[in-house]
Amino acid sequence: MVFRYELIKEDRDSKARLGKIYTPHGVIETPIFMPVGTRATVKAMTPEELKDLGAQIILGNTYHLYLKPGHELIEEAGGLHKFMNWDRPILTDSGGFQVFSLGDLRKITEEGVEFRSHIDGSKHFISPEKSIQIQNSLGSDIIMAFDECAPYPSDWDYVKKSLERTTRWAKRCKDANANPDTQALFGIIQGGMYRDLREQSAKEIIDLDFPGYAVGGLSVGEPADLMCEMLDYTVPLLPKEKPRYLMGVGSPDYLFEAVIRGIDMADCVLPTRIARNGTVLTSQGKLVIRNATYSRDFTSLDPECDCYTCKNYSRAYIRHLFNVNEILGSRLATIHNLYFLIKLMENIREAIKEDRLLQYREEFYKKYGYIK
Ligand code: GUN
Ligand code: ZN
Repeated sequence: MVFRYELIKEDRDSKARLGKIYTPHGVIETPIFMPVGTRATVKAMTPEELKDLGAQIILGNTYHLYLKPGHELIEEAGGLHKFMNWDRPILTDSGGFQVFSLGDLRKITEEGVEFRSHIDGSKHFISPEKSIQIQNSLGSDIIMAFDECAPYPSDWDYVKKSLERTTRWAKRCKDANANPDTQALFGIIQGGMYRDLREQSAKEIIDLDFPGYAVGGLSVGEPADLMCEMLDYTVPLLPKEKPRYLMGVGSPDYLFEAVIRGIDMADCVLPTRIARNGTVLTSQGKLVIRNATYSRDFTSLDPECDCYTCKNYSRAYIRHLFNVNEILGSRLATIHNLYFLIKLMENIREAIKEDRLLQYREEFYKKYGYIK
């Protein structure tokens, strides 16, 4: 197995860790933020641009790629890396989360999930085996077990049944992985907002022995305190020598709180999604660039940022682009937002190295205007 996690340093003052993940397509430094490329593209960015931003790994989605263009077509192209011209690591989510977001359009059984396509209403069935088969065709470096992310709030009895089914599905995923030497399958811990169920899920999933573990079912609309409490409780149950991935988190404050609790990897559509509707992350907090306030503001998006956008364009110009619906506005805002989070994680790694992470968090929150 090429896949390996190396723990480099533990923070003196928190549970944060510095590490490296070795994959067939290169090394990832952790803690890391992973940009999302749902449909074989990180929206508005070329792979060259992503590399220039410092992106080390991106995400793809089994559900979307299965529907369009189809995993057989991507396999025929030589796999997802070749198809989209990205030669660094790729992680694919299993489709569980996306299928479960379909609401009325899906039906869960022990065998798997039956659903109707959000595109044309056609009927499909994804089982744990099918999800792994699709991810094997895609050829991603890290693949995810097919799980159920219970909605928030859900009652204890439902979450218990759901997590136990997720464990049975995880075992089936492990047995189905045709390429365990080149595609590392991560198990996903569920258990909703219940400590005893988080413990049960962690125990069952760890017993199956995966090369990495994800914490799922968080950042689903619960208050921040509750997510932190679940992390406080769940992460210490995970083995030290394996990477830990918090699914679906990407705001600066959540990233700090997750890393401080021992998380190594996180992903979210947030930076790219809000960029396209004209919201940018800055060292002084979020900024809605469409606002008339910026019509004559000839400074950069963030005075402390040295991304391509901030080095070359003003708030006034970017506001104008959004105002007249020019696609360059989306592109420039996406470049900035991704750079902002990638740089934040780089700074976080540097702070862990120098045992000043908690101090860095305080400084960041103060400027960002975030009150804990
Ligand atoms: N993305 C965000 N949360 C989840 C989760 O719980 N499971 C999966 N598979 N993907 C996610
Ligand atoms: Zn910038």
